[in-house]
Amino acid sequence: MTYDELKSKLELIIDPGFNKPFKDVNGIKKLVVGPTGVAELEIYLKDKTKNEQQVKIQIIRLVKIELGFPGIKIDFFESEFVPEGEKIIKYLAVASGKGGVGKSTVAANIAKAMQRQGKKVGIIDADIYGASIPYVLQLEVKPLKSTADEKMIPLSKDGIEVISTEFFMPPEKPVMWRGPMLGKLLTHFFNGVQWQEDIDLIVIDLPPGTGDVALDVKSYVPLSKVIVVTTPHPNASSVAVKAGLGAQQIGHEVIGVVENMSYYLNTCNNKREYIFGQGGGEKVAKKLGTSLLGQVPIGHPTSGDYLFTGTEEAGKTYDEIALKLMKELDL
Ligand SMILES: Nc1ncnc2c1ncn2[C@@H]1O[C@H](COP(=O)(O)OP(=O)(O)OP(=O)(O)O)[C@@H](O)[C@H]1O
Ligand SMILES: [Mg+2]
Repeated sequence: MTYDELKSKLELIIDPGFNKPFKDVNGIKKLVVGPTGVAELEIYLKDKTKNEQQVKIQIIRLVKIELGFPGIKIDFFESEFVPEGEKIIKYLAVASGKGGVGKSTVAANIAKAMQRQGKKVGIIDADIYGASIPYVLQLEVKPLKSTADEKMIPLSKDGIEVISTEFFMPPEKPVMWRGPMLGKLLTHFFNGVQWQEDIDLIVIDLPPGTGDVALDVKSYVPLSKVIVVTTPHPNASSVAVKAGLGAQQIGHEVIGVVENMSYYLNTCNNKREYIFGQGGGEKVAKKLGTSLLGQVPIGHPTSGDYLFTGTEEAGKTYDEIALKLMKELDL
């Protein structure tokens, strides 16, 4: 059995996620046979969580039993392969150092601004400590329906689709999310949702800080980009820097900073009043080697909910942020 024969046999194995052989989907990135005859492989699967075990058994059977190699070592990864003609869904995770800086409000308003630009958008509310996207969107929470192949159908508010930890919480009972439970839920969020056809962007509202969830996002959607939300006070910004550095350490690309509650626009003289200080956003952007995407003023939408329209001051800021992000995300 030569190396080439081994390789060509392995390449015929099907990645069930794509329903195509590894050869066609670049599923084998490393294949070495050591001096003792042990084969080492790196396998990239479309749906690692679902199919790893099954593919592993298949490979071991082929390599050890059929071909008689004395040993095998396989590492599995999430595939980044995109079949020709298939649209790639872009992901944008919204992070912050601490809570209450307006992360969820910013995430929802960016989604809305993207929609104004003609994009199809969804939101994953992954903030296990305080899911607030349904509230920010004023979304009526109803039991979720699912498709024939058991994918969850997200709820939708004016075309923005949402999947939220909130949908899985028993009412008025705090739930302690522990590692395995949380991981299971997130797996469903990233692999088990039937989003609208041709969806362009999924915005992820992360929990504050640098935690497990950011790490999970990295394993489920390795190409997700991150933005960091901060308030304008320079002291508040150091914790936002930490969150950004944390994301970068995991390997996420931080593509910008949004400064929220930047100023109050005094309508009497049309002057900006910097109630919460100044310079935080710029500082965070600089420390993270990225740019300040925009400064959102203090205030609520005139409509009485939490989403600005494109004609309001904050709405215009969100539109500018959305345009910059579209460029960064290649949308
Ligand atoms: N630019 C703003 N001007 C005035 N109020 C704002 C602004 N942005 C957010 N808020 C308000 O601040 C509060 C916190 O906002 P939000 O829930 O979006 O923050 P968060 O960072 O997601 O918080 P949490 O850590 O609780 O998830 C909300 O009441 C929200 O309406
Ligand atoms: Mg929030």
